[in-house]
Amino acid sequence: MTVRILSTSPLVGESLQELGRDFPELLIASFRSPQWNAALPLAEALVVMLSEPLSESDLDNAIHLKAIATYSVGVNHLPLEACHRRGIRIVNTPGVLTEATADIALALLLAVTRRITEGEALVRSGSWTGWAPDQLLGTGLTGKTCGILGSGAIGKAFAKRVWALGMRPLFWDREARDGTLDFGPGVAPRAPLKDLLNASAVLSLHCPLTPTTQGLLDRDALLELPKGSVVINTARGGILDESAAMDLLESGHLGGVGLDVYTGEPHLDPRWLNTPRAVLLPHLGSATTETRAAMAKLLCEGIATVFRTAQDTPRC
Ligand code: DGY
Repeated sequence: MTVRILSTSPLVGESLQELGRDFPELLIASFRSPQWNAALPLAEALVVMLSEPLSESDLDNAIHLKAIATYSVGVNHLPLEACHRRGIRIVNTPGVLTEATADIALALLLAVTRRITEGEALVRSGSWTGWAPDQLLGTGLTGKTCGILGSGAIGKAFAKRVWALGMRPLFWDREARDGTLDFGPGVAPRAPLKDLLNASAVLSLHCPLTPTTQGLLDRDALLELPKGSVVINTARGGILDESAAMDLLESGHLGGVGLDVYTGEPHLDPRWLNTPRAVLLPHLGSATTETRAAMAKLLCEGIATVFRTAQDTPRC
C-alpha cells in the first residue's frame, strides 16, 4: 500500500479529490479504523477533523509525516509542540470561517435574548393561544456593552455585528493589551478582564483554547458579570466552566447561555438538556457549504505547498 495523504473525510467540495489527482496516493479512512491505523506509518500528510485528537505517540508511528492538516481553525486537538520539534507542519483554516462563525455567535445571541427556540417550540406544540402582552419577553441589546474575549478576526467580525445592533463592543485578549481596537466600522476599547466582565451585558468568547484560556471563565469570573448577563461560546469548550455556567443560570445570576461548543463534546452534561434559557447548537460555527468548501481548498493548497517545499528541502 502506498499512501501519501491519509484523510478521515472526503471534506466538502472537490478540493481533496483534485489534490488526489496531483498526489494519487490518497486514502480516506475513518479515524482510528484498522485501515487508518495501518496507513499511519506510511502517511506524509494527515487530514483530521477538530473532533479527532492526535497524540505524540501517533507521531512516533507516523515516521514519514511532513504535515498535519486540520479541517478547522482551532488546533488545540493537536500535539503542537511535538510537531514543532519534529519539523511537522500544521495546516489549518484561518480566515475563511471568520464570517460564518461570527454569524453563528450572533444567531445564538439573538436566539437566547429573544427566546427564539422557546417561541418556535410553542408554535410547533400547537398550544399557542395567541399574542399576549407578556408572552416570552426577551431582553433588548441596543445600548448595552458586549464583552468580547479575543481580538482576532472572529472577535472583530462579531464586534461588527453587535455594533450594527447598537451595542458597545469591549475587547480583552490573551496578551491583555490596552488601548483601543479598530474592528472596521468602529473603534472599541480594550479592558482588563475583570473590568470587561463587570461591564458586560453580553459576553462572547472568540479566543482559542490554550493553556492561558483553559478554565478562564470559571465560577468566580462568571460571578463578575452583572446579574442577568448572557454568555455565548462559539470558541471552544474548556474555556468556559459549563457546570458553573449552568449553576449560575439556574440561580438567575446569568440570564441566558448560548453554546455551540462543549467540554468533551459531543457528550453533554444532561442537565443542559432541560435548562431553560440555554440555546444549544452542535458545533455549527463553520457549517455553511461555502465555508466548508473554502476550508477544504485552503487545506489542500497547504498540503500541496508542504509537499512541494519538502521536495526542495527533505526532512532529516
Ligand atoms: C474551528 O474550525 O475551529 C471552529 O471551531 C469551527 O466552528
